[in-house]
This record gives sequence, structure tokens and C-alpha cells, in this order.
Amino acid sequence: MSYKGYAYINTIGCQMNVYDSEKLAGILKSHGFEMTNEMDKADIVVCNTCSIRHKAEEKAFSFLGRFAREKKKRPHLMTVMAGCVAQQEGEKAFARVPHLDIVLGTQAFSRFGQHLDALKSGKKQIVDIGESDVIFEAMPEKDRSDEDRSDESGFDGNKISKFVTIMQGCDNYCTYCVVPYVRGRERSRSHTSIVEEIKILAGNGIREITLLGQNVNSYAIKEDGLSFPQLLEKVSCVEGIARIRFATSHPKDLSMELIHAIRDIDKVCNHLHLPVQSGSNKILKKMNRGYTRETYINRIQALKSACPGIALSTDIIVGFPSETPEDFNDTMELLKIVEFDSIFAFAYSDRSSAPAAKFSDQVEEKEKMTRLNQLLELQEIYTHKKNKALVGKFLEVLVEGESHKLRDGFVKTSDKMKQMTGRSASNKIVHFPSDNCAIGDLVTIRIENAYPHSLWGYPGS
Ligand code: 5AD
Ligand code: SF4
Repeated sequence: MSYKGYAYINTIGCQMNVYDSEKLAGILKSHGFEMTNEMDKADIVVCNTCSIRHKAEEKAFSFLGRFAREKKKRPHLMTVMAGCVAQQEGEKAFARVPHLDIVLGTQAFSRFGQHLDALKSGKKQIVDIGESDVIFEAMPEKDRSDEDRSDESGFDGNKISKFVTIMQGCDNYCTYCVVPYVRGRERSRSHTSIVEEIKILAGNGIREITLLGQNVNSYAIKEDGLSFPQLLEKVSCVEGIARIRFATSHPKDLSMELIHAIRDIDKVCNHLHLPVQSGSNKILKKMNRGYTRETYINRIQALKSACPGIALSTDIIVGFPSETPEDFNDTMELLKIVEFDSIFAFAYSDRSSAPAAKFSDQVEEKEKMTRLNQLLELQEIYTHKKNKALVGKFLEVLVEGESHKLRDGFVKTSDKMKQMTGRSASNKIVHFPSDNCAIGDLVTIRIENAYPHSLWGYPGS
């Protein structure tokens, strides 16, 4: 059944949501919609939501709150709440967000087309928070023209890099986390379908792939007998793909086989995101993380000696229930030992469906903020130090486009050339002048200057 008109998607949250939104866009297009970046123009608005922290959930509800006003102005407007908050709320969503047409849970995305048809036939207030054994696998379109691709820029501005989900859900049950409750049990996608999707993306000019899963190291143990490092091997054989990244690895499952894959497979970037969450053994235990501070540091040492120069990033939660100043200090000390290239740090956010919500000794909000700022301040030193160590070195940069974020001092007045930007394999943003490189090229840059969050250099070899 076909519609006519424009569709707008607002994506909140993680990379997996970005991936899912692209798939929703595919379904909307196959139902006759054209994608738009202007919400005012849209005939259908989808909000793909996230519930990992309170702030993300609030963001979703405040966006959805606008639907009521919009519907008054344009009664034909169709509205969809998708993703983690939709899964969590189910029927209750209609009470909180009147004028909502479809509530689409995390495992219902593959049924979105059916629900659009039902809406067209007059069905009202559709809710689907049912389960699914399969991962949402809609394939990208083959042979898309550049013109076609440009209308997706609302969800993914980068034309050379794409996310590909290889597994969904999580069986780890960290006590602070809603993921196992809103995204269900861990399910892996077949390697043939993953590789087929990546071949299509490569055919469309994509140069970099980030494989996504909550815990990629437990990929496909039950399915086709292929381990995650073996999947990396298969993906690296796809012609046209220059770089492979992946997220997220769980420290308890980081195998030597994966460390060797990072070392041995050229296309796999020399960068690992390995969330530690806390440096205190007491807190790690309460979080149900399944490793100690010592085993984490051991893994990091194994990584550093097998893959010299590897860039490391992590996630940290401060102010978990019962975190004392001493526990927090253990986290600060861990930062000094590991010297991460970058961190993502969060104040603990109470999620009612996660077990930690019932833990005693909650830390005051103000104290969480103080600790968060202290941690970020400490990390700035290491981020800058790591960047400074690259001055004088040659980095291979995958060109992403013209640089929009040039600050005073970046451009030397003598440079009349275009200023370009890209990323190194270690995930550093690199700006450089060049008139003769194209998006998707790999160029060698000699680093001249290091800024706190980016690098600047000249092409050269
Ligand atoms: N509060 C704060 N941060 C959280 N994360 C997950 N759940 C919570 C929570 N309840 C963080 C973890 C995870 C990242 C994706 O989000 O650090 O690795
Ligand atoms: Fe959440 Fe832990 Fe699973 Fe990550 S590993 S998604 S933090 S439960």
C-alpha cells in the first residue's frame, strides 16, 4: 500500500539507533515516502528513542510533546514512537503522548511496513512491543545514485562510513543497565547476511564499516560457529572497504584471538573501545561486570604489547550507588595507569527497570557532577598528551570532507588550499590543506600541531 508525502526521522541515542533509523527510512521509502530534513514539511514523523539514561528519555518525551501542537495545525500528520522508550512504555505511551499513531518496540522494526499499511486502512493507535527471533535485516538499496543518498543526510552526514549491526540484545545484565530489558536477549545475525550487506555498502562507495553489537566478542557462538575474529576476517575480504571498526567489546570476553585479529588484519583499525565503567573492585562487583580492576589492566597490557600504539577509549560511570570517594579515586588512578586516548563519562542515572535502582546509598546528584567534572578534567591531560605525542608522525587519514570546524590558528594565512578533514585509524580527527584529494581517499598526513581534540598537518609521505 503506498503513501505520498514526506517523512522525517529524529534519532536519539546510540549508533545502533542510527543504523535502525536508516532501515526505517528504507521501509518508509518503499511505502512511497520521500525523506526530508524539515520536520514542518513532513507527513509522518518518527522519533527513534533511547532510554539508557534519564536525560535521553526526557529528550524523547519533550520531542514527542511537540506532536500534539503539530497535529492541531496539520491533522493528517502521522506520528511514530520507536525504539527503547517505546518498548518500555507500550500502551502507556498513548496516555503520555496523545495523538501518537504507532508505538514500535525494539524488536518490531521489521514489522513497521505492516503497521503503516494498517494505519492506511484506518487502524488507530497501533502498538507492537512483541518479540522477534531475527535481527532487523532490511538490506541497503543497490546502485543508489548520489542524488538518492543525499536525502538521508538527516541521520548520517558521513557518506563514506556506515554502521552495520551484527547482533542485538544483551545477556550480561549489568545492574545499572536497561539494555537487556528493552532490547531483549542476545541474538546474532548470520555472517552471510552481514557480508552481503557490507558488499552492497561497498558498491555504494562506503569505505569504512563499524560493526555493532552490545558485546561483539560473544558474536554467533550459538549460530553458525563463526567467532567474531573470524567474522572480521570475512568482512576484511570485501573489496572497497578500507577500514573496519567495531563496538562494543566487553572486557570479560576480550580474547587473545581478538587481540591478534586487531594486530594481524590490516583493515581492522588499531583502536579499541573497552568500557571499564569503574576502577573500584567493590563497584565492579556491584555492577555485575564480571572482571576486576587487575584483570582489566592485564588485558590492556596484553593489548598494548601485541598492538603497539593502539588507541584506547572507554566508558565510565561515576556516582554508582555506594561509590565512596575512595572508590572514585580508584577510577581516577585507573585513568592514570591506562592513559586512554578518550573517554565517555556519565553520571549514574537511576533506571527503574534496572536492579541498581533498588540499591541503597545512592550518591547525591551534586556529588556525581563534581566527580564527573574531576574525571573529565583529568582525562583532558591524557587526551592532549596522546595527541601531542603524534606531532612529527605520519598518519593515514580517511578523508571525510571539507573541514567546517576550523578555529583561529588552524589555517595558516599562506594556505589558500581547501581545508579537509578526516580520521586516522586511531580515530583522531585530522585537519589538513589539500586541493587534490576526494572524500573516501586514504592520504598520509604529517602531523604539525596537536590540539586538545584534533590534529593538524600537511599531506606528505
Ligand atoms: N547511568 C549512567 N550511564 C549508563 N550507561 C549505561 N547505563 C547507564 C546508567 N544507568 C553507560 C555505560 C555504557 C554506556 C553506553 O552508557 O557506561 O557503557
Ligand atoms: Fe548494558 Fe552491560 Fe549489556 Fe553493556 S554489557 S549493554 S552495559 S548490560
